[in-house]
Amino acid sequence: ESTLGAAAQQSGRYFGTAIASGKLGDSAYTTIAGREFDMVTAENEMKIDATEPNRGQFNFSAGDRVYNWAVQNGKRVRGHTLAWHNQQPGWMQQLSGSTLRQAMINHINGVMNHYKGKIYAWDVVNEAYADGNSGGRRDSNLQRTGNDWIEVAFRTARAADPAAKLCYNDYNIDNWSWAKTQGVYNMVRDFKSRGVPIDCVGLQSHFNGNSPYNSNYRTTIQSFAALGVDVQITELDIQGGSATTYANVVNDCLAVPRCTGISVWGVRDTDSWLGSGASALLFDGNGNKKAAYTAVLNAL
Ligand code: XIL
Repeated sequence: ESTLGAAAQQSGRYFGTAIASGKLGDSAYTTIAGREFDMVTAENEMKIDATEPNRGQFNFSAGDRVYNWAVQNGKRVRGHTLAWHNQQPGWMQQLSGSTLRQAMINHINGVMNHYKGKIYAWDVVNEAYADGNSGGRRDSNLQRTGNDWIEVAFRTARAADPAAKLCYNDYNIDNWSWAKTQGVYNMVRDFKSRGVPIDCVGLQSHFNGNSPYNSNYRTTIQSFAALGVDVQITELDIQGGSATTYANVVNDCLAVPRCTGISVWGVRDTDSWLGSGASALLFDGNGNKKAAYTAVLNAL
């Protein structure tokens, strides 16, 4: 196959990217993105601060620009993200307790209702677990509303759009030996055992010197899948851009039937949130295919 998306489709998977609405006027960017990828995540435009800048007043203009570009170019869309400690609008940062809990529920309903039936999978909750060795929850205003905030978010989401897969998404849950991975694993196992609606786990997979790719990544993917959820690699980037590591990631996903797709977190190195010096993506700043691109295409 000649593109990442077409190659992924041969095994029933997708290959996606994050798209920034502000770059949709850049024809070099849209040419590559339009050609190569078959799944789109809005890099920032569907986050809480973007979609509900004032309490109860929703704004989908930027999110819709990304959504419409994707659909007009034959791509599906992942929704990112509904409940998160980060990129909250100022009004939400000020809230706590039952008021914040209700605001979270209202937010999930408002955004999911707008995109009802149009989203392949939503990252319902993002980054709720703590770094380090605790294996426990991250402290946040949402966590302080009560430990059940995550399951409330998922139940709300299921009712709002039954057609969307509902994902828990996080970083540093790639390495099976890490406490954070085990914490999320235990949560998903608990949710499945109690019937809390969850369909997928998103492994962000931002690999760097402090959290490098580990060969137990395949075990992580297999272990989550064995709980009865899909696994999606949602925000892949690899500092330094190792072609070998990119191929390992693809091979690990392809080894697990329930690993349903891979998205990289940007198109060219110059589009990366890590900066172009990280060389973390599949195309260089001039839009040329890197060695990592060829490694991924060959592995798919
Ligand atoms: C990043 C975006 O890429 C940046 O443009 C923005 O300034 C900050 O957020 N985990 C996530 C993503 O779930 O939403 C983050 O995206 C990267 C880390």
